[in-house]
Amino acid sequence: MSGLTISPSILSADFSRIAEEIEALTLAGADAIHYDVMDNHFVPNLTFGFKFIEDAMKNCRLPADVHLMIERPEESLDRWLAPKPASLTVHLEACRDIENAIHRIHKAGVRAALSIKPGTPAVLLKPYLDMLDSVLIMLVEPGFGGQAMLPETVEKIAELRGMAPDIEIQVDGGVKRDNYKTLAALGANNLVIGSGIFAESDYAAAIRAFRAA
Ligand code: DX5
Ligand code: ZN
Repeated sequence: MSGLTISPSILSADFSRIAEEIEALTLAGADAIHYDVMDNHFVPNLTFGFKFIEDAMKNCRLPADVHLMIERPEESLDRWLAPKPASLTVHLEACRDIENAIHRIHKAGVRAALSIKPGTPAVLLKPYLDMLDSVLIMLVEPGFGGQAMLPETVEKIAELRGMAPDIEIQVDGGVKRDNYKTLAALGANNLVIGSGIFAESDYAAAIRAFRAA
């Protein structure tokens, strides 16, 4: 399956050994590191902040993909952009001025992505598709790793692929060995995977299993 990239979500990593975990994912063949930022308002969970990501990025050779699950991301956008992640994702439901946020992300030289929760129709992304580098479709209610994919969310992948043939489509939540081929066939080209990798002791074998044709 060419063109399919894999971004492990460190949400399921051991935070007390984060540098080792990231190094192990790098050696295991990951394409990027996905950071799930949660504020306990937009989602009912709290993860890490600016310094954690900055420190984690220091010795990491892989691109950082920062997924902000926070209310009013525009208020703290500059802080998330400061360490120069490869890409920054804000949620459509949480952002008051999406066009302005995309503009600011691009001005910092960072790829801009917009994400939607399971209950948000894909068509709401349409006005922004020309400006975006990527869209992230949540296949579970954001907040926790290890949940089962909600089957009704997958039709949005094909719908979006129809609207934007060339955009990167990321899928996040419940991506497992038994569903990734379906997601890719519908048009997803980046898999964000947490428990599907961290539940295995051999990260390289786990990532390889998602690359099998
Ligand atoms: C959920 C996060 C996901 C999550 C994926 O809110 O955005 O990145 O950690 O984890 P799994 O693959 O375990 O569903
Ligand atoms: Zn995520």
